[in-house]
Amino acid sequence: MTIKVLSVASEAVPLIKTGGLADVAGALPAAVAPHGIEMTTMLPGYPAVIKALSRPRTVHAWASLLGEKARLLAGKIDGHPLLVLDAPAYFQRDGGPYGDTSGRDWADNWRRFAAFSRAAADVGSGTIKGRAFDLVHAHDWQAAMTPAYMRFATPEGGRRVPSVMTIHNMAFQGHYGADLFPALGLPPHAWSMDGVEYHGGIGFLKAGLEAASAITTVSPTYAREIRTAEFGMGLEGLIVSRDARVSGIVNGIDTAQWNPETDPALKSRFSVKTLARRDANKRALEAEFGLEPGDGPLFIVISRLTWQKGIDVLLETLDHLVGIGGRLALLGSGDAAMEGTFHAAAMRHPGKIAVRTGYDEALSHRMQAGGDAILVPSRFEPCGLTQLYGLAYGCVPVVARTGGLADTVIDANLAALNGGVATGIQFTGVHYAALSDAISRTVTLYWQRDAWRSMQRAGIKADFSWNRSGKAYADLYARLIAEDQ
Ligand code: ADP
Ligand code: GLC
Repeated sequence: MTIKVLSVASEAVPLIKTGGLADVAGALPAAVAPHGIEMTTMLPGYPAVIKALSRPRTVHAWASLLGEKARLLAGKIDGHPLLVLDAPAYFQRDGGPYGDTSGRDWADNWRRFAAFSRAAADVGSGTIKGRAFDLVHAHDWQAAMTPAYMRFATPEGGRRVPSVMTIHNMAFQGHYGADLFPALGLPPHAWSMDGVEYHGGIGFLKAGLEAASAITTVSPTYAREIRTAEFGMGLEGLIVSRDARVSGIVNGIDTAQWNPETDPALKSRFSVKTLARRDANKRALEAEFGLEPGDGPLFIVISRLTWQKGIDVLLETLDHLVGIGGRLALLGSGDAAMEGTFHAAAMRHPGKIAVRTGYDEALSHRMQAGGDAILVPSRFEPCGLTQLYGLAYGCVPVVARTGGLADTVIDANLAALNGGVATGIQFTGVHYAALSDAISRTVTLYWQRDAWRSMQRAGIKADFSWNRSGKAYADLYARLIAEDQ
């Protein structure tokens, strides 16, 4: 029997992406399909999403969705069913999914994503003719009100099906003032400790975590970490109270997009058997970034430039990195002050440090294929994908021991090196001493050519496809549905 799941997300590749959530939401339908799950993805109708729909069909219309007109359009995403909420007043705007062209959050994000979730709850509850679902899977705070609407305001004629709430990042929770509560269209009893109320205001993610039948995060270590005040960001008590319902399922990578043997973005394609062919990519990368060519280690960083990613600490270690013979190519966007400091560091170390700001998917592929090591000094990392792409491309990850980074990289300690299973370098604590020490260890290992090659090979051979995690999600869905009957 096929299980029908509605996956509700605010971004998904190939249509719209600001971070790893899009990679995961985009990959899930194919990941779970072999395990008897038919997944429909529901997205907001941003301009890029609407434009990508070829001959969409209107399957439903709302005269007023929290005050604005909306339609539901049906299409396809990579061959899988797609539903798009076309609500021009909410989503037809220049800028990104969450903010304007200058990066400022839209002031009405609460209404935009409450409306999106309200619509998803209507769809998931089976009130749209011809579309029935067995389960709803909501991602992050933007979709988190979906389980809450299903619980407190099941639409007429709808059925309350089980739900999964996945936390991709606890740092974004959707907190708003209590004064907005009446506009959400929820009954008064939803304003409660186990409802949407959170410290006297409204908490979107909090409401979803309370209402969902199960909670997942994107790695087992992060699932444990969010039980603590350091990582729980205020929701640790809730997570502990729902302990039996919380689990971690590590993200996979889309091996069709990220395969060094077939990647069209690369100058020189390679496999685990032809690692020497990476050299041509390294030369090309040096040229592209204007770095001095050389045999020494070339570090890369591909990241949002934010506090989460430990970029401030990385900045402190740049002189050390260059001092011991390293070079660095960075691709990032985000905090304007951090971008400026990187440009200043590049001026200070011409030919050794080079920076590209902005978002460039193809360049990120070329960097993974030509860099020697990728630095990921995150303070917290629910899963992290760039270290996985690094592993698949022979670009050795150097990571903070936290969240998904701890779960996916095997540190090159003596036992792991001797056993040939090491895949990268881990360090504990995101501060100057720990990161600069990790960079030194990396440079030392880099010059031990056999050990380095062995790490690259072990990384490429490790299985980070969606096979296992696709099955884990499918098993979870089946369990929740069985429990519900
Ligand atoms: P997060 O979602 O927290 O930003 P992840 O590691 O899960 O972190 O995912 C980041 C995704 O965004 C990866 O696919 C990474 O390659 C990509 N990425 C980040 N910054 C850039 C950039 N400036 N240009 C291109 N891709 C980027
Ligand atoms: C979030 C997290 C990142 C994770 C991604 C996809 O953006 O910051 O660690 O890999 O979601 O789950």
